[in-house]
Amino acid sequence: MDICREDERRTLLSSYDDTIGAGPSRSIFYDDATTKRDDQTRGAHHKPNLLELLRTIGLDNDYHRAQGDRIYYFDELGREIEVLDLVSGYGTLLFGHNHPDLTNEAIRFLASASCNHAQGSASSLADSLAAELSRRAEGDFCVTFGNSGAEAVEAAMKHALLETGGQTFMTLDGAFHGKTLGALQLTSSPIFRQPFGVRGVQVERVSVNNVRNLEAAFAHVHRPAGFFFEPIQGEGGIRQVRREFLRRIAELCAEHRIPLIADECQTGLGRTGTYLASHALGVRPDYIIVSKALGGGIAKISAVLIDRLRYRAEFDVLHSSTFANDGFSCAIGLKTLKMLDDETLESCREKGAWLKRRLQALKKKYPAAITNVRGMGLMLGVELRKSALPDSFVLRFLAARDLLGLFVAGYLLNVHQIRVAPTLSDSTTLRIQPSVLIQYESMHRIVAALEDLCVRLQRRDIVGLTAFLLQGDARPGRGAPIWPSRKRTVTFRPSRQPTAAAAFSLRRVAWLFHLNDADDLPSLEPSLQDLDQANRKRFLDSIAPFAMPVAMDRVEIRSGTGDRVQLQPLLLPVTSRWLKFHFERRRFRKLRTLVQQGIDVAFGLGCEFVSLGQFTSIVTRHGRNVSPQGMSITSGNSFSAALAVNAVQSVLAGHGLVSTDCTLAIVGATGDIGRVCAEILAPEFRKLILIGSGRQNSARRLKHIARRIGADWSCDLMAVRAANIVICATNAVDLPLTEVHLANAAIVCDVSMPATLDRSTIRQRSDLSVLRGSVVRLPFNEELGIPGLPLPPGYAYGCLAEGILLALEGFPDMSFVGRSSVCKVNRMESIARRHGFLPADRTTPLPVVRMMQDCNHVSSDLRRFA
Ligand code: F0G
Repeated sequence: MDICREDERRTLLSSYDDTIGAGPSRSIFYDDATTKRDDQTRGAHHKPNLLELLRTIGLDNDYHRAQGDRIYYFDELGREIEVLDLVSGYGTLLFGHNHPDLTNEAIRFLASASCNHAQGSASSLADSLAAELSRRAEGDFCVTFGNSGAEAVEAAMKHALLETGGQTFMTLDGAFHGKTLGALQLTSSPIFRQPFGVRGVQVERVSVNNVRNLEAAFAHVHRPAGFFFEPIQGEGGIRQVRREFLRRIAELCAEHRIPLIADECQTGLGRTGTYLASHALGVRPDYIIVSKALGGGIAKISAVLIDRLRYRAEFDVLHSSTFANDGFSCAIGLKTLKMLDDETLESCREKGAWLKRRLQALKKKYPAAITNVRGMGLMLGVELRKSALPDSFVLRFLAARDLLGLFVAGYLLNVHQIRVAPTLSDSTTLRIQPSVLIQYESMHRIVAALEDLCVRLQRRDIVGLTAFLLQGDARPGRGAPIWPSRKRTVTFRPSRQPTAAAAFSLRRVAWLFHLNDADDLPSLEPSLQDLDQANRKRFLDSIAPFAMPVAMDRVEIRSGTGDRVQLQPLLLPVTSRWLKFHFERRRFRKLRTLVQQGIDVAFGLGCEFVSLGQFTSIVTRHGRNVSPQGMSITSGNSFSAALAVNAVQSVLAGHGLVSTDCTLAIVGATGDIGRVCAEILAPEFRKLILIGSGRQNSARRLKHIARRIGADWSCDLMAVRAANIVICATNAVDLPLTEVHLANAAIVCDVSMPATLDRSTIRQRSDLSVLRGSVVRLPFNEELGIPGLPLPPGYAYGCLAEGILLALEGFPDMSFVGRSSVCKVNRMESIARRHGFLPADRTTPLPVVRMMQDCNHVSSDLRRFA
């Protein structure tokens, strides 16, 4: 089959250009108005959730052009950015993107009006390709074609069942053979398999390179049908199967008269430096599956080669597939095999060996960042060390979410314009699978980029590593990263692991909390301290889609009675603003699921009690909408309200005021804490004004409460000016209360988290007395040291303390779920008294915590008052 000449190709291409009116340098076939999407609709119909993940991690480029080992996208400024592609179409592009010889072949086939589909007739192209595949596999094989790797695996499974009459397939741990239902049974990862738990064929999994385990499996397997293996496990993390082990598999297959089935979808056709990797490893499989590279990056084609002596005649008819063995794919397959000459194989071997040596040198130089380098030829894997990240909250968080590899892929793409991907079943291994066209200069570039990554990982340079997450800012064409490059020492305390005995001798209570706002970020990740507020917010927004509960260090808390409990803080790394945003858009399920995850984690960590707080209480209707898993859940509101009431009463006494002479305003009176405070305090004050947000049903509910307890009400914040005492119990995130709303010498008790009152108001108005209404003093002054909890040692929030108190009481008490009540508040107060939990000293006003620049400030400022 001749290739058409370059001038012929140009003529053919220009005739296409004429028809559709586009230049060949752009995406000529798809650059029309019908395929353009604005950002609103982009990704709405095709894998929308995956796209969101990719977008968050900066991997959602829409590549419009590809040539060789380079692919191109337009950045936000419309500039074309070139990327070195090491993913190579999941190993498909051995000859790179759009190799001219292969595209010429495709154009020639299409332009020559050849017969593409004539099912049920002779096909010289399919026949030639099958003969060539058989010859190159050095045997006498009958070939069945398919359209994808998984389809060829399915065909091999079907044939093996037919041939052997067996029912159990044997395969290796870590295997990947595809995601269609049959192939999925062989695939190792339960992530892909379990959601489709279909019982069909049986599968016996054997540990890789473990001969004893292999022999034991053969000894007990019931009616085996065949043994599937990948010579180098691709998706399992680029792990090579050892020669001796493979030989033993082959011997046992022969003894049991079952076929040895090599899945060479990825390893085959030159990628590992030889035509077939199994041959290089010294075995001659009975069935061989090839795909990926066979299509030259253009056609979708796969094939299973079955030893003629085993081939069952009826399989010709029993198995078929409409698009398999089409003329086009076979023509491309033939062309690919022709191009796959000794020189190509040698090039794969040499370049691969060079790159592997360099990567191994990196591993030696940066042992804290790289744990292993594996693979053969141009199928290499670099395994990152998960345990290299003990000091960084962000990196540990990503690793715990199995996102470290993807994050690193985002870094390499956005900072170095190199595209890699983690392997599917081993998310910390990066696959390095360039095309054979890769130049040494590009390989130097890969090594330099990985070295930069290692240096940053080893130095814990979180600022440098995560700058690209601030969408766009670190990307090409956007100028220098705006994040400061100053290095700081990150001090994240690793989890204290109590001894098993200590861990379970104490009752354990979880506190499910979230960040007040973006200012709390540096208390989690001190190296991000120099980010300005907008960038802190952008950073937190960028990790919010992955939010899941993070277990913080446990702290032992002692009661005045001598009893002790263990506090297990569980952080949801999202802000009040984020939660409120989704809450107001009625995305209740999303929020509930997040809180439920926290409850499930608490259960898994052996907690018996869970205290909610802030929005985790609001979005679950104070714990009613989540499944408690047999634990006792409390909203945290009753003790918060008890503290607020107590604060108001003692501040009045401190100021020598009598409540019956005073007017009290409660801002956020339709909320659970505000309402119950109103119910308790209404009879004591001369006048009570309930203030609502004015949103949705707020006015109606406000009116109802006011009528019931004999109070005034208003949805206008200016009504607060009439009060000399104000309780703020809102879930607002935008600091609604300012100096214009407050009467002269007003006393403000701010229970809200984040605070309702602006720090500049507090600074400007020296006549005001502002106190934190929901802070409690622990009897033994334990330091909670929870990142994102800016309180000095010995202090805790009411919502958190409520769970501790209930745990100290020691019996599960579900009555604290749901709305608070006067009775619950009184009960919490007496429980707290019994255990010596005192309201914080309120004669001295505490500053509003959320307005502090960083946690060190907060701690030292508060310490002065403590
Ligand atoms: N077998 C192996 C060894 C594979 O690596 C793959 C796919 C398949 C079978 C299934 O092929 O997707 O065409 O049905 N590997 C892809 C990868 C997913 O990421 O390398 P398919």
